[in-house]
Amino acid sequence: MRPTGRIVERSLVAAERPVRVPAGSGPEVAAWTYAPEGVPVIRLQRGDRLRAALTNQLPEHTSIHWHGIRVPNAMDGVPYVTQPPVLPEQSFTYDFTPPDTGTFFFHSHCDTVTQLGRGLSGILLVEGDTPRPFDADVLCVLRDWRIDEAGGFTAFITDEGAGKAGTFGRLRTANDRVAPVLEVPAGGDVRLRILNVDATRICEVGFDEDVAAIIAVDGNALPPVPLASRRLGPAQRLDLALRAPAPGKELVLYDYFAAEPVPLARLRGTGPALKRKPFAPWPLLACPFAEPDLATAERMRLTLQQTAVAAEIVMPNGETLRYADALCLSTRTFWAMNQESWPEGGHQALPPPLLTLEKDRSYVIELVNLTQNQHPMHLHGITFVVPESDKGFPRHRADTVLLGPRDRIEIAFVADSLGDWMLHCHIIEHQETGMMGYVRVA
Ligand code: C2O
Ligand code: CU
Repeated sequence: MRPTGRIVERSLVAAERPVRVPAGSGPEVAAWTYAPEGVPVIRLQRGDRLRAALTNQLPEHTSIHWHGIRVPNAMDGVPYVTQPPVLPEQSFTYDFTPPDTGTFFFHSHCDTVTQLGRGLSGILLVEGDTPRPFDADVLCVLRDWRIDEAGGFTAFITDEGAGKAGTFGRLRTANDRVAPVLEVPAGGDVRLRILNVDATRICEVGFDEDVAAIIAVDGNALPPVPLASRRLGPAQRLDLALRAPAPGKELVLYDYFAAEPVPLARLRGTGPALKRKPFAPWPLLACPFAEPDLATAERMRLTLQQTAVAAEIVMPNGETLRYADALCLSTRTFWAMNQESWPEGGHQALPPPLLTLEKDRSYVIELVNLTQNQHPMHLHGITFVVPESDKGFPRHRADTVLLGPRDRIEIAFVADSLGDWMLHCHIIEHQETGMMGYVRVA
């Protein structure tokens, strides 16, 4: 990656701000945001250095995790693991140069059910992956709002939800609006970046016509794959290339995971029809990364389990951990990995790593889901290779992989970045009730 020499400075002030949900029309919600405009979108060119100054004006501590970005460990934003939490009225400056292009987001890694639930997230786009320009580059950020009719927040976490598929919001939005119209240049070549930033909901995105191709998964380019529909768990992103409809016509993006397909957004062709050759999506430029050597890779297994263990964890040194820091985690444990549950409030007394890896070695980690639920599993700091699926979805690079009930998926990577990297389910209620740990690259 060639540095551009450009430094992009951004100030992110985490604070409570009244926001109308749905945007422009709904009741006023006491949202937590990083910027007065709501969800900030930071656009960088590959090679740009980002200096993002976080100031905490929330009543509780916070941090920013740059999801999917291969940052140095100290910039990863995990309280007690990679940095001290940013206390109210304090600041912390994140300073790094993202090595990869793509569609990313950022969010708090502290009391995440509440902070993400109240809206605290932002978008980070690293440009420079288009060999030919698109006629439009459109964002579609999916999330539920856990609010009642009057705009008051409903529970972000419930025992019922945390122990099962999670607590869903009532109001489903794209770009904070309900099934909004997204205007696209009629007949043009459109890049649509879909981000699932919800804490809970897994959707299955697709159009009412087969018109789009997947060109990137979690920001990572892959040769275009026709989109029939694709399941997208919390934190997963999908970049699509598609041909915009004719003037005045609409193409509807649906969630097909529901019993009745739910319209998420409507792409409407506007302006005079552009004259373009027949639709043929072109591949994005992929960023180089260290290919794992499967022949010499060390193999390890990580099982995902449901647990009934109580709120106390006995550490290897005989110490019993309880919730000392009830802010960063809830007080229930429902989930485990390799029989270990992340101790409640355990950020300050870290459990040992789930796995210890040697720098620059190749690894194949077999993720085995022993539960009846789906889990979008995310590894910080290192992107991994997901092999071709049995349904034929090609091998690709990702930072989050969705495991269905009883699934096994082998992810492979080179442990090329030193530090302690979190590995957890991105259904935040699962993460905060045990399904979290870290791998140590030493
Ligand atoms: Cu987006 Cu540890 O998460
Ligand atoms: Cu999970």
